[in-house]
Amino acid sequence: MKDVLIMGIESSCDETSISIVKNGCEEIATTVLTQMDTHALYGGVVPEIASRMHTENITMVLEDVLTKSNVKMEDIDAIAVTYAPGLLGSLLVGVEFAKVLALVYDKPLIATHHIAGHIYANNLVKKLEFPLLALVVSGGHTELVMMKGDYDFEVLGTTKDDAIGECFDKVARVLGLPYPGGPNVEKYAKLGKWTYDLPKPMDNDELNFSFSGLKSAVINLKHNEEQRGNAIREYDLARSFQDVAFDQVIRKTRLAIAKSGAKRVIVAGGVSASAELREQMTKLCDELKVDLSIPPMRYCTDNATMIACAAYPQFLNKDFTDFSLRAKSQEYFFQKKD
Ligand code: KG4
Ligand code: ZN
Repeated sequence: MKDVLIMGIESSCDETSISIVKNGCEEIATTVLTQMDTHALYGGVVPEIASRMHTENITMVLEDVLTKSNVKMEDIDAIAVTYAPGLLGSLLVGVEFAKVLALVYDKPLIATHHIAGHIYANNLVKKLEFPLLALVVSGGHTELVMMKGDYDFEVLGTTKDDAIGECFDKVARVLGLPYPGGPNVEKYAKLGKWTYDLPKPMDNDELNFSFSGLKSAVINLKHNEEQRGNAIREYDLARSFQDVAFDQVIRKTRLAIAKSGAKRVIVAGGVSASAELREQMTKLCDELKVDLSIPPMRYCTDNATMIACAAYPQFLNKDFTDFSLRAKSQEYFFQKKD
């Protein structure tokens, strides 16, 4: 079969990225332009600034990736773009840019979900082999999902309230840590010890998760200590929180492996950038003699490589979209698109 070159475009938050990937697993070239330093000045992503910066930068990012890859637009087989979820104004820049490229160069257009990208980033390590159990831990998703084939998902467990990444971001704010929250909580946790006894969520046989109780416990603890005039040991609080959050993830993953009999596990989503989670997952899967795949760090944060990877099965399936494609700020991935 002829090689398939897909151009992926990602602009859902504060990274403008374009990538060219061969056959859904071989990265030819990627450019990621992050706006993190700009948003850090404001303590979080400012949507208006993010979309303006995407608009200003996206053409440069395209030129850069074409130069690095030595690929011409004519050689590209399809244009894939993140259409959901994320900041609407940011998504719109990528979506409209992708439409223009598809129109000008007469290429099929593929609408790819951001979370599919995080899942299929694992293809860059080793081609996904089914069935497998996917642990999805991101800013908007916390799921244990059985995959029996490409885009064939059975949700075994999901969060009853907040997503894990959202909880890390909230705790970062409570601790007064700058944006980006998750990695900064991790830095603090590394310097601290488990000393605060936070409640252990979902200590039962269910595969579902819960994070809002843990989040409230951190907020209340800080408030109560302040009321009493006690100083908070920030490093210890970060560590105590992270330990309880990951303990829940590891417990539920262990349970899901036991219940499903899975022999392969993949981890996906921004929280998989956590060195602590990577280590704990590696230990668990070694112990249970289960094959584990986690994308390398640079594919855990947002990038267009993963979008081009996720678009490959869509391409084979001729799952193309027309120019009526609209960006969606919120769309839970594990349900059918309308
Ligand atoms: O997957 P992602 O891009 O989110 C969505 O697309 O929804 O991941 C972003 C999330 C943020 O909530 C961020 O705080 C979290 O991943 N994150 C981390 C770490 N790095 C990123 N959480 C904990 N530890 C980290 N090292
Ligand atoms: Zn992401």
